[in-house]
Amino acid sequence: VVPGDAVSDVLEASPVDVIHVVADAYLAHEQGTFVNPRSYFMRFPEKPNARVIALPAYLGNETGKFGIKWISSFPDNVKSGMSRASAVLLINDYATGHPLACLEAAKISAARTAASAAIATAMLVDKNHALTVSFVGAGVIARTILDYLIATDLRLVEVVVHDLDEEAAEKLATYATEKVGTPAAMGSLHDALGKDLVVFATTAAAPYVPAQTQLSPGQVLLNISLRDLPAELLLTANNIVDDVDHCLRERTSPHLAELVTGNRDFITGQLGALLAGDVSVDPRKATIFSPFGLGILDLAVGQHVLTQARAQGATIEIPHFMGETRRW
Ligand SMILES: NC(=O)c1ccc[n+]([C@@H]2O[C@H](COP(=O)([O-])OP(=O)(O)OC[C@H]3O[C@@H](n4cnc5c(N)ncnc54)[C@H](O)[C@@H]3O)[C@@H](O)[C@H]2O)c1
Repeated sequence: VVPGDAVSDVLEASPVDVIHVVADAYLAHEQGTFVNPRSYFMRFPEKPNARVIALPAYLGNETGKFGIKWISSFPDNVKSGMSRASAVLLINDYATGHPLACLEAAKISAARTAASAAIATAMLVDKNHALTVSFVGAGVIARTILDYLIATDLRLVEVVVHDLDEEAAEKLATYATEKVGTPAAMGSLHDALGKDLVVFATTAAAPYVPAQTQLSPGQVLLNISLRDLPAELLLTANNIVDDVDHCLRERTSPHLAELVTGNRDFITGQLGALLAGDVSVDPRKATIFSPFGLGILDLAVGQHVLTQARAQGATIEIPHFMGETRRW
């Protein structure tokens, strides 16, 4: 078992390694060497805003590992100061199928999401240019994305935070001021939409960003929470996703755009193809990156965490967990 503190220690010490692990996973995904079935959503009739997602994945023969992340989203937790998401990751051995490890995975999930956001940003912005950044939604994911943007060595010159909950906005603005070294401000949605890089990390269930919003050429929108943007806005932009089949489901903004147009022509390509140089974006348009969140990323980052935590003696070994392993 790898408890949360051990996971945090590994992740905090190695953001650049995590970025490499995630970029490699995207490239391998593009080459089809991983198995990444669709994730499965469970919802509750009497708690309509809560859900649990199961994300199974197989990393390919080289690593000999497969597994599943089981992640709950209970937005009402936030009212009592608890985090919205909680997760475990199980890693299994490909040779026997046996489970090998159970990792606390909320931080792993946040780290792989933030690494994806940072990788997409680094591919889409001019890295020699100082960037103005805004965060719409100021929770755990926004904070982790800020950490990974900093780890990517992007030059952030201005940070604006917008959240319906002023206290959350203030907390992220204070955190950003410390981390970036220039004062971060709280602002309106309109202020946020004018920045070079706009990060959406809310819990909105349906689009609220005005359809007539004018995006600028070269502007980058990270559509991490997936449901903030109306279909019309996506149709004015380049659209990069992590996996077309995964992302065009569950009423995400790209799914809504598919329902409106009846086709997938508005999709420019997948992040793995962009990384491999097989796809390019039209510089006359803004680009929207919509990552559905792939189980292979959790598993790849989880495997990195397990290896490091084991080397540091930070895992809790449970002898004979499997009980009976012989038939007779
Ligand atoms: N795409 C992915 O791979 C991926 C991975 C992990 C999380 N996520 C998504 O990221 C989002 C954020 O997760 P979190 O853990 O940071 O949540 P959180 O609950 O900690 O924070 C969300 C914040 O958004 C704010 N908010 C809600 N609606 C808003 C609106 N219309 N305008 C402005 N602010 C608004 C809330 O007040 C809250 O402070 C979730 O939707 C989650 O599903 C996506």
